[in-house]
This record gives sequence, structure tokens and C-alpha cells, in this order.
Amino acid sequence: MSIIYKQEEKYFNLHTQNTTYQIGINQYGYVLHNYYGRRIADVSMNQLLNLYDRGFSGNPSQAGRDRTFSLDTAALEYTGCGIGDYRISSCGVLNEDGSMAADLQYAGYNIYRGKQGIPGMPAAYDNGGECETLEIVLEDPCTKLRAVLIYNVFEKADMITRRVRFENHGDGAVRLERALSVCLDMQPGSWDLIHFHGRHCMERQPERLRQPHGITRISSKRGSSSHQHNPFVIMAAPETVETNGDCYGMMLVYSGDYAAEIEMDQMNSTRIVMGINPDTFSWKLEKEAVFDTPEVIMGFTHEGLGTLSQMYHRFIRNNICRGKYKNARRPVLVNNWEGTYFDFTHEKLEAIAGEAAKLGIEMFVLDDGWFGKRDDDCSGLGDWKVNENKVHLARLAQTVNEMGMKFGLWIEPEMVNEDSDLYREHPGWALKIPGRDPARARYQLVLDFSRVEIVDAVYEQIASVLSSCNIEYVKWDMNRSLADTWSAALPADRQGEIRHRFVLGVYHFAERLVNDFPHVLLEGCSGGGGRFDAGMLYYAPQIWCSDDTDAEERVLIQYGTSFGYPASTVGSHVSAVPNHQTGRISTMDLRGMVAMSGMLGYELDLTTLKKSDKTKVRQQIKTYKKYADLVMNGNYYRLTDPVKEPDYCAWSFVSENRKKCLVNFVNLHTRANGPLINVRFRGLNPEANYKIQGEKNQGGQKIYNGAALMYGGYIFPVFTGDGETVQLYLQEVR
Ligand code: GLA
Repeated sequence: MSIIYKQEEKYFNLHTQNTTYQIGINQYGYVLHNYYGRRIADVSMNQLLNLYDRGFSGNPSQAGRDRTFSLDTAALEYTGCGIGDYRISSCGVLNEDGSMAADLQYAGYNIYRGKQGIPGMPAAYDNGGECETLEIVLEDPCTKLRAVLIYNVFEKADMITRRVRFENHGDGAVRLERALSVCLDMQPGSWDLIHFHGRHCMERQPERLRQPHGITRISSKRGSSSHQHNPFVIMAAPETVETNGDCYGMMLVYSGDYAAEIEMDQMNSTRIVMGINPDTFSWKLEKEAVFDTPEVIMGFTHEGLGTLSQMYHRFIRNNICRGKYKNARRPVLVNNWEGTYFDFTHEKLEAIAGEAAKLGIEMFVLDDGWFGKRDDDCSGLGDWKVNENKVHLARLAQTVNEMGMKFGLWIEPEMVNEDSDLYREHPGWALKIPGRDPARARYQLVLDFSRVEIVDAVYEQIASVLSSCNIEYVKWDMNRSLADTWSAALPADRQGEIRHRFVLGVYHFAERLVNDFPHVLLEGCSGGGGRFDAGMLYYAPQIWCSDDTDAEERVLIQYGTSFGYPASTVGSHVSAVPNHQTGRISTMDLRGMVAMSGMLGYELDLTTLKKSDKTKVRQQIKTYKKYADLVMNGNYYRLTDPVKEPDYCAWSFVSENRKKCLVNFVNLHTRANGPLINVRFRGLNPEANYKIQGEKNQGGQKIYNGAALMYGGYIFPVFTGDGETVQLYLQEVR
């Protein structure tokens, strides 16, 4: 039993293997947050509660003359609004009478084994017997608005997922103006916020700051989870490092507008809330209607950021990603985008494919430009019909299959160019506000995916292409942010629902796709990593990590991405030099090592590759296949920090049983007469001995002791050129 209710003392303990989450119910009917942290016994933690009379922090009427209980200072599981808690709220309402208050009081609970899905939305799933669920019902006695707090406890994984279901049992409609998925009142003290910001071509860069008094906000209102801020945050104790210290993760399983708000209050207590971005959200909840928030994946460890990342990696691999390729090695692909852009012919594609097959590449992916009138990015989106003047799709797929490779295709379903047949026929299908000329981005508009009939119409077009020949991979792109959101299908008082309904439309499309084409490997993409989130990973087990294919920059991008997401989700390609984004010339070794630390692909015109590079490609593919299981399923360790030490970077993958380990080291900038580079390995068995393959300047294989490598370290040789790499493969020996 991972969930325990202590009736007399009125608290719930949610135990995972190494953590405990405690929820209390107080004498006035409020649900309090007692504790979340290292595992404890079944003892009440209500000594941590802040029960003092504080000036200007009033008291609810149930407290009578007790001035020590205030909603403004108590640690709460979920907040109401407008009734005397002046910190950030997790919900916001507009009632029929115009009042903006919700007083959410305890009204019952339910515990059951297993986990229910969320209708129409992605969520973590139970593989069988992994999870127990607690539902706590909160209700406003006045309006009968209910918030059902749902906690799913994955005991072995040390993870808890949380969400809220709003139910309107009142007489009239209520508007939800904020409906966040989670509220966590942290233990008093200082906390660092670690978040992952970025831009197109440099996603998910870690930034760590001490939470000041006041509110910090990480969010997106772009209609996607965004390049700019990833929906994953970590709260860490100030002393926490990779290998040690308390840290909490919060990851939203959602692909649209979101916000994480963190507030340190007057008492130095920190609250964090996370969920759908309230700025672009307003939902009319009719009598007896229900609204489900997306889910948040929460994890805690006292063992530092490395362990926290590994918990998320495992959880995403086992409980978020689905389908045929969940655990299967992904085919090594070649994508023609950077090789040809829009400028290709059928013959050119065949030539690249022919070269790819000779090199051992397993899949050919045809990117943008195969449909409609799509010779540049000004036209064609929306017309998902093969442009036979350029390419004969069925014939190409067949040729590629005959070469022994799979065939894959690029799509961008949510988008439309005004210069397209679809738009000419249905100009009202694009998101636009009547009377306003909408903003364009990359010359395109966004289709109103809040309308299921539009989603289905686009789906039918694309599905018919996918059924027309043997297509075994789809790259799903999204190349602009939303603006001018207005939908002809909704009345004025429901226009605030579009952004969320749009995301539901995206999920509807995705669910149809994975159900109808279960053999297809779906790769997510949004101008690279603009929609790299656990929501999309529920449908697409890998995502094109960034449009920046420069290996040196990718070291940083993949480093930041690794805090929340496993290598098995990271699409990563070797591209041409000079690199198309930076002009930099990197060695083939560097490009290969970085790309094979994710799901390996190539993205260049293989017909122009030098002979020596072709030999390298063959070797890289061999190496990749040899270590694929370690990279996909091993425990990932960030051995160095390339933000603090930009001259080099090392990371490793260690098998669960600690018998095998792959260390990747890249030398980014050589220094004349450079200092020694000592890297301490991690995750090995200290008692075991390991033989190492791949050492430079060593005659024969040497044996090293696990403890020696971890506590002492390993000195990498002095390098003579930028972009040199070392790959060490450690195997335990008896
Ligand atoms: C986006 C993707 C690229 C490529 C282009 C095609 O930018 O991230 O990989 O598919 O679109 O237009």
C-alpha cells in the first residue's frame, strides 16, 4: 500500500520507495500540505505548519476566535481564490453573480489501485500494478464548485503525478479563469529555481537562480510549449549539486500555453503552481460540466540533480512513451532537408537514398516540399497531395524499400499558406479575428484546430497519403506560434477556450495517427525543439531536438535537454560543414559522437560526401548500433558542465546492472600547453574492475577499478585539435 489514510490524525501519506508526500485535513476543513521529501514513517508532520497570528493575514470564519490559522500563511494542497490567501492561487473563478471567489474545503476522498487516463489528453500510464491513486474532493459550500485533486503514486519509480478535475455542481455556469494542475507549498527556507530557457536554435538552457521574494514566472503563450521556456522546472536546495542534495522536479504533460509561477512570501515560504497559462485561458463551465487539467509529473530526491534526471528519464521511457518504438532501437535515418531544402528532384532523392543504403543507413526521410505547390515556404501548406512534378511518392518509397531501407515523410498539419487550395476553399479555417489582418510567420497562418471537423479534414488528407504507400516514419512539424486566436465556432464568451481546445485538437490528430498507423515511428518537431514536452512524447517517442545541427552548440542543447528528457527522445543528426546555422567547421568525429548520443540520423547531401567521411559514417553507424541499448536505456550521467567549462564535455551511459558503461568525451577548444582534464566517472560498481576499450595513447586494454575511476577520476590525454573525441567503453571483468 503506497497510500495510507490515518483517520484519527487526519492525514494521508503517499509513499514511494524513497519519498513521502503528506496531506493533512485540519479542524476547519481545509486540506493542508504537511510534507514532501525523503521517506518518513507514518507520523504526522503537522509540526511544520505555520500556526501564528500574523498581522494582515486574516482568518476564515470557521476558525472563530482562533487567529493562528490563516489561508494566507498555511501550507495548502490547492488554493481557492478571493477569500484571504494573498499568494499566487491555483484557481480563479468568475461566478454567476459576478463574484470571484472559491472556497475549496474538504469534502471526501477515494483511494484505488491503478490510474485513469485523462479524456482526450496525454498522461502517464500504469503498466500494471505500478500505481495507486488518491482523489481528494474539495468543494465550495456556497457555489458547489468541486475541485477533485488526483494523485497517482508510482511507488517504484519514486514519482507522483497530479492533476485536478473541476466539476460544477452549482445551479449556474461558472467561468474558470485559472485552473492550474498543481500547487506545492514547499518547506520553509531558501530554494533555487532551475529552469530551461532558450530560443529557436538554442533550446533548453539551464539557468539557476535563488528564488527572491515575490513571483517568478516561467511560461509560454505561443500555443506550443515553446523554444523559449520548457515546461519543466526544478526547485533545489541551495547546496544541491549533480551528485547530492534535495531537489524537486515538476514537469507538465502538456504541449500548449502553460505557466509555472513560483512565489516566496512574507514568511520566506515558497509556493509553486503549474498548469495551463491563465493569461490566454478562460473556460465556461456549465452546470454539471467537468474540466480536466493536464497532469504534472513530480519527483523528489535527496541525491542531487543527476538522480532526479534519471528518475524522469526512466519515467518518460516507461510511463509516457508508447507504441512499437517505445523500447525498440530506432532506425538510423537520412533526412534530405539540409541536403536539398526545397530544391530537389525525384532523381536527386533517389541518388541520396542510394548513397545512404550503401553506407548502412536504415531509413530515408523526405522532408518539406513534397506536396502541393511547395517550392519555397510561401505556399502549399494545407494541400497534402503529392506534387508529382517533383516526386512520385509511391515509386520513391518502393525504390527506398528495395534498397533495404524504410521510408519516412514530413508533415505540418496545423498550418496553412494563404497561397494554397485549402485556404482558397476555406479561408475561415485559419485562426483570424474578424476585421483584423492576422500576423504571418514564415508566410503561414494557423488552422483552427480547436474545431474537430477541421482537424479531421486535414487528418483525412494526410492519412490518405500515409496509406498510399509504405511509409514507416512521420516527422510532425509546427513552424510558427499562435496569434490572432478567434474561432468562428465559438460564441464570444467562449473565445478564451480556443488555446486549450487547439491543443486538444492536436492531441486528437496525434491519437488518430498512432492508432491508425501503429507501425509508424512518429518524430515530433516544431522548428526543432519548440514543442519538446512530455505531452508530445506520449505520441511521438522522439522529437527533433533543435534546428541547430552544429555539433558544438548541440553539446549545450543536449546537455540542457538531459535534465528532464532521456536520450531516447532526442533526435540528433550529423550535418554538413561548414554548418548551415553557424558556419562552423567541426570534425566528423565530433558531429558523430554528439549525434549518436541521441537517436542518430544524417542530414546532408550524401552524394557529395568525401570518401574518408563515408568511411567514418559506416563506422559511426556500427558503433551506434553496438551501444544503442546503453544510450536508450542506460542511466545517463552529466560528467562535466559545458556551461561552466566550455572547453570540453563528458557524459556517460551506464547499464542498470553497472556492468557496462559508455563514456563520451568531446574536446571543444584545445588550449596550448593545456591543463590536465580529470573527469570522475559515475554510477560504476566501486568494487568491480573494468576493462576499457577506446583509450588513446594506451598500448592494449588496461584494467581499472570502479572506485578508482569514480573517486579519483580519469585523466584524458592532451589534445592537439578542436573536435577530437574519445569514446571509452567499460566492461566489468571478474
Ligand atoms: C522546420 C524543421 C526542419 C525542417 C523545416 C522544413 O524548421 O525543424 O527540420 O523540417 O521545418 O520546412
